[in-house]
Amino acid sequence: MRLQPDINKKGKSQVKVLIVGSGGREHAIATSVAKSKKVDQIYCAPGNAGIGMIAECVPIGAMEFDKLAAFAREKEIDLTIVGMDDPLVGGLVDVLEKEGLRVFGPRKNAAILEGSKAFSKDLMKKYNIPTAVYETFDSAEEALKYLESAQFPIVLKADGLALGKGVLICQSLEEAKEGVKAIMLDKQFGSAGNRLVIEEFMTGREVSVLSFVDGKTIKTMTSAQDHKRAGDGDTGLNTGGMGTFSPSPFYTEEVDAFCKKYIYQATVDAMAKEGREFKGIIFFGLMLTDKGPRVLEYNARFGDPEAQVVLPRMKNDIIEVMEACIDGKLDQIDLQFEDNAAVCVVLASNGYPVKYEKGFPIHGLERFEGQDSYFCFHAGTKQTDKGIVTSGGRVLGITAKGKDLKEARTNAYKATEWIEFENKYMRHDIGKAIDEA
Ligand code: AMP
Ligand code: GLY
Repeated sequence: MRLQPDINKKGKSQVKVLIVGSGGREHAIATSVAKSKKVDQIYCAPGNAGIGMIAECVPIGAMEFDKLAAFAREKEIDLTIVGMDDPLVGGLVDVLEKEGLRVFGPRKNAAILEGSKAFSKDLMKKYNIPTAVYETFDSAEEALKYLESAQFPIVLKADGLALGKGVLICQSLEEAKEGVKAIMLDKQFGSAGNRLVIEEFMTGREVSVLSFVDGKTIKTMTSAQDHKRAGDGDTGLNTGGMGTFSPSPFYTEEVDAFCKKYIYQATVDAMAKEGREFKGIIFFGLMLTDKGPRVLEYNARFGDPEAQVVLPRMKNDIIEVMEACIDGKLDQIDLQFEDNAAVCVVLASNGYPVKYEKGFPIHGLERFEGQDSYFCFHAGTKQTDKGIVTSGGRVLGITAKGKDLKEARTNAYKATEWIEFENKYMRHDIGKAIDEA
């Protein structure tokens, strides 16, 4: 879709963008990209029904590197934005760069920050970045031996990517033994379980801080918090995320100062020293323990659904920020966020994350058209001749802004009522923790 054909006539300052991914995060990225004055045309591979309203979706999978490169060459794409972890960790950025294309995202040797938990833990240990105490194991036998004298609860982490499910919190030796068996012997998460990290169990509030990085400079975005469990009151199974709010009232100036001093720049510098210059997004999963903030994990991409509450509050032109990252000029960007709040409530299909039905028509989407403070980000949707239908576990992310978190939450829950589909399921306590702040 041509967004601004009049501006396009001016020629070279206009960029054609390709976004790689298909979830709510990519819809939020596409929405920010569509607002940019610098953008002429947006493609998304493979995209979804919502992204299709603001971009041209092309049926190429995120792991089809050669096809993506051929498409980007053919369409003379000026900037490719890789949203998802799998293609980043698999080296899509390197493949596209070899073709002379400009890409926003870390190369394979830097995306390992997310791709291997053993790597990221070793990096933190080497550079004194605060995190949980841990050990790494290549054999189940050694892991089991170690557990005999360990303290519980304890945390087991499959080394590689496991759709956010490769972390097990084990209350007893019995449970931990079963976990080692599931990860390392039964290979429940495939080759991600060839190595295992066993780490100290920590308690505290979790905060997600996303940042732009240009290899040297890091600029953090406003904070957010995710709700990972499926049920109200943080019960039930872990999911990809059932809702978010931003900013986190627990992310105080004191916490920010600590993280700036010991975590953010230290991580970027450590990667550079290791010869793994990081350009793109670093997502810091933090736990605010009583001993201070600790890194739970790094991701090499925007969070989903963190992007759905952070990006709508960003004042900058996202293309300018991304280009500054690629060109090593992030120090020249003044990253700014609105002085308000946002809440995102995920509408899922009942039964998610285990078993759920698909193909139900979605009603009410038109209510979001022309709204400035309400967003309906599509995650699992598909355009069919019956209209837009559900096609995944997480179906939509309903985001609303408000002057503060309470107002944003009220607005978001009000907007969840605009949408109807069979088997619609959501949590009713997204952002409830803010009442305790
Ligand atoms: P991760 O993928 O490493 O972020 O882990 C997923 C979730 O597991 C985190 O969001 C935490 O809720 C939990 N978790 C991970 N590591 C620890 C830890 N060391 N102590 C307590 N909880 C943890
Ligand atoms: N919401 C957590 C993640 O994107 O990993």
